[in-house]
Amino acid sequence: MKTEDWCICVERLIIKGQRRLKGEVTISGAKNAAVAVIPASILLDSQCTIENVPRIKDVDVLKNILEVLGAKVRFEKNNTTMIIEPKGINSYKADFDEIGQLRGSSYLMGALLGRFNRAEVTFPGGCDFGNRPIDQHIKGFEALGAKISIHHGTIKMTASKLIGAPIYLDVVSVGATINIMLAAVKAEGQTVIENAAKEPHVVDVANFLNAMGANVKGAGTDVIKINGVTTLPGGTFHSIIPDQIEAGTFMIAAAATKGDVLVKNIIPKHMESLTAKLQEMNVKIEEFDDSIRVIAKDKLCKVNIKTLPYPGFPTDLQPPVAVLLCKADGTSTITEGIFDKRFQYVDELKRMGANIKVEGRIAVIEGGGKLSGAPIKALDLRGGAAAVVAGLIAVGETEISNVIYIDRGYENFEEKLRNLGASITRVNG
Ligand code: EPU
Repeated sequence: MKTEDWCICVERLIIKGQRRLKGEVTISGAKNAAVAVIPASILLDSQCTIENVPRIKDVDVLKNILEVLGAKVRFEKNNTTMIIEPKGINSYKADFDEIGQLRGSSYLMGALLGRFNRAEVTFPGGCDFGNRPIDQHIKGFEALGAKISIHHGTIKMTASKLIGAPIYLDVVSVGATINIMLAAVKAEGQTVIENAAKEPHVVDVANFLNAMGANVKGAGTDVIKINGVTTLPGGTFHSIIPDQIEAGTFMIAAAATKGDVLVKNIIPKHMESLTAKLQEMNVKIEEFDDSIRVIAKDKLCKVNIKTLPYPGFPTDLQPPVAVLLCKADGTSTITEGIFDKRFQYVDELKRMGANIKVEGRIAVIEGGGKLSGAPIKALDLRGGAAAVVAGLIAVGETEISNVIYIDRGYENFEEKLRNLGASITRVNG
């Protein structure tokens, strides 16, 4: 572990709870789009400019990886515009430890394979939700003509040439959909991905690739058609979409604290599954062109939620919404429809007095009680966001350790919360 990482590991957030959030917050660029668009730049013949890049740990890690591979990467303008010159990339090997830190590194597989017809990449990491297979990514690469072997945690892929093919995904996978798009953009002929993921960041990556010279059609539906091109000239710019999950986290925090918050720089359509649930809970929502105001004055009603691929309720908002349901009248349930083990954070909430029972993929939440501040840990990124929301509504002081997880995906989280009236500080040691 580098000294800098160790320092972040020992940092904690101290939250004094029970303050209403009030005011305006501006949402940053989407993490899950940025961590795909940055590796996608490997495929380009010349420089690209990426705007609205969130300044989060996962982006810093990917910047370092690209630089090690030979790219020139710099930030400009408010530090959120990233300029990548990929010409100098001369290695198809990305087999180093940093890759295991984040899921987005899996996109190095598709991008390096697409550029060199060859790739050697360390097995990707990411948050621990139980088994996170990559069989659908591999199935796609093989269909395009790659031969694949796995040795000592490194995936090795070679192809004499990549040829477009029909690929039916057995499960709806964001990662596999994006990775296959990356490998297929420069393949010969047409690739058709069926049962593709429809998440906003899948569409954003397709828009980035098309802006750079690719021919990708249908992103946002469950059939994506990619007509291979011989070159991706690049030379232009793309702006990352707003972060649906950061926006949702602030909407939930506003509702949980009985607040009144205008969440700005978002695409309200991306928020529909959450907006509908908040309304069902009795939260008032005002929708504008690129913002949503959340006003929570009245008692919150219980609801049942099931997480599903987009446009269903996002699994990444499941942990923070569980905290909100602790405040609702009556018994609510959450069924996790995407990952096997995404309720580990519940044990931390129980330390604060939450009444939640988990049976496999279902959590039963008895609402109406009060949470009380306690020392708790962020066990993963969104579990960390849930810990913060719990701290905001708890009686007394909450101390959150493992802040490094939260820094992976939320830009200026504390500052944004403080601007809304929260009492949250970062301490060291
Ligand atoms: N799956 C397979 N085989 C595969 C790929 C996936 O069986 O080859 C299964 C997974 O085990 C899971 C389901 O398919 O049950 C969906 O997984 P998906 O591939 O869609 O997830 P991912 O690409 O690994 C991305 C986000 C996650 C988000 C999920 C679901 C990134 C970098 N990560 O992960 O984001 O939860 O999609 O929407 O885009 C987060 O931001 O905190 C986060 C975890």
